[in-house]
Parts: sequence; structure tokens; C-alpha cells
Amino acid sequence: MREVSRQARAKGHKIGFVPTMGCLHDGHLSLVRRVKEVCDVVVVSVFVNPTQFGPRDDFERYPRDLTRDADLCIAEGVDYVFAPEAEEIYPRGACTFVETEGLSTVLEGESRPGHFRGVATVVLKLFSAVRPHVAAFGQKDAQQAVVIQRMTKDLMLDIEVLVLPTVRDEDGVALSSRNAYLSDEQRIAARAIPRAIQAAEKRVAEGEWDAEGLLAAAREILEAEPLVLIDYIALVDTTHLRPVDEVAGDALLLLAARIGETRLIDNATLRR
Ligand code: PAJ
Repeated sequence: MREVSRQARAKGHKIGFVPTMGCLHDGHLSLVRRVKEVCDVVVVSVFVNPTQFGPRDDFERYPRDLTRDADLCIAEGVDYVFAPEAEEIYPRGACTFVETEGLSTVLEGESRPGHFRGVATVVLKLFSAVRPHVAAFGQKDAQQAVVIQRMTKDLMLDIEVLVLPTVRDEDGVALSSRNAYLSDEQRIAARAIPRAIQAAEKRVAEGEWDAEGLLAAAREILEAEPLVLIDYIALVDTTHLRPVDEVAGDALLLLAARIGETRLIDNATLRR
């Protein structure tokens, strides 16, 4: 990977990078397509990163199919698929990690201790291997995008981070590798998640800015769906992820919910 990157840079090529954990869907591919528009060489990494999974998370059963992923990448005109082994990324004795203080312990981080330390660390390592000019992330994982943007700024990485819109299925549910875990009945229940977000968006469009009212509107829809259990729902600012009392400028509505064993997240930017 280093050699590929060195040669591309020597030719003056602009390298675009999309880090993934594989099981690629249209959400991932939307990032690939955007990066391809603005770069000469496109690299997709496929690495199910052990350090971002907690002991009770789905690391073992996370869906893996590198052949299918590579075929999808080829069809999109991706130049390189980088699929390292865990031992290469985490050699024995490695003891350096990236911690985005204040961002990594709230919301998703509160439910998944160590998750963002794992994400930031692996993304920095992948950046170091790929040495991209541009890297793309999905708004679907809004907190992750904030963590990566913060790390890139704080560690003075010379990389342009793109955060691109969430791709949804026809029923509004955000595309996610974890949707594959849902039964038909659970999948129908999952529609309450985008509907809850839309309810808050509708209130904003009608001129309501108050966090309490917006969150209540979203919560009401989730609570009406017995299969959906709310993990958290919050309205926060877009830089520090601290709760806000009202929408002033941009605010992030973030939520996580459990449907059976499956944990889904979604979000929207609310704008005044
Ligand atoms: P993964 O879940 O495979 O997602 C890879 C990228 O695709 C992330 O930037 C994610 O936000 C984006 N993505 C996922 N679903 C999307 C959707 N419906 N619409 C738009 N973008 C979507 O996120 C990770 O992997 C990992 O944490 C990683 C960054 C690779 C580090 O291990």
C-alpha cells in the first residue's frame, strides 16, 4: 500500500480514500463515487477493526465477504482495495492509541466504551498506510465524522475530510451492514427511526426550535413501536456534541435504538 501510494504521489496523482469494514452497500459506494469525481486514484480499505468492537459487540458475526466487496469496487472503478490483516495493523506490542477527549465518551461512546478510540486509531493507521489527499466518511455515523474531523485537525494531518449524506432505502431506513440482522417484522419496526427524525424535522420546518419539544416529537414515534427500544436520543452542537436547549444555526439530532439484538443509529442535521 505504501509503495502504491508513493508511486501515485510521484506522478502527481490525487489519492482518494474510503475506509470501510466491508459488506459494501450503496452507502459505501456513494462515498466511492464522490471520491472518484475529485481524485485520480481511489483506494477502498476493507478491515473489520477489532479495537472498535466491545466485548459484547458483534465482531465475530459481523458480515464478511471480501470477494463480493472487491467485485463491487471493481465495478465502481476503484483502483485499489486495501484489506490488511489484523496483525499488520496491530502488531504485537503496539501501545499507541488516539483519544479524542470529550467526544469519545458521550452518546455512542457512552454505550460503547472504547469504540471511538478504536475508530480514531485505526483510521489514523489507515491514513498512514494509504497517505490520501482526500478521505470520505458518511454522515450516517455523525459522531464518527466529528471524531475524525477533530483528529485530522488536532493532529495536523494534511488530508481533506469529506462528510457525505446518508443513503437510505426506499422505506427511509438508513443503509447499514447491520440491517442484515433484522427479521422482516423488525425491519418494518425500524422504519420508526427515520419517521421519528422526520417528525423532528417537520417541527423545525414549522418554526419550533426548542430541544425538549423536538425530542419529544421524535421520542413519541419511537415509543409507539414496541419492538424499538431507545438507547439515547439527543440534540447536540455539531462540533463538541454537547446538548443544546434549542436549534440555533446547525444542531445534530442523534439517536440509537435496539431492535432485538440489533443496534441501529441514525441522525439528522437540524438547521435554523
Ligand atoms: P463502515 O460501517 O463499513 O462504514 C464505512 C463508511 O461508510 C463510513 O464513513 C460510514 O459512515 C459510511 N456509511 C455507512 N452507511 C452509510 C449510509 N447509509 N450512507 C452514507 N454513508 C454510509 O464506519 C466504519 O465502517 C468504520 O468505523 C471505519 C471508519 C471504516 C473504521 O473502522
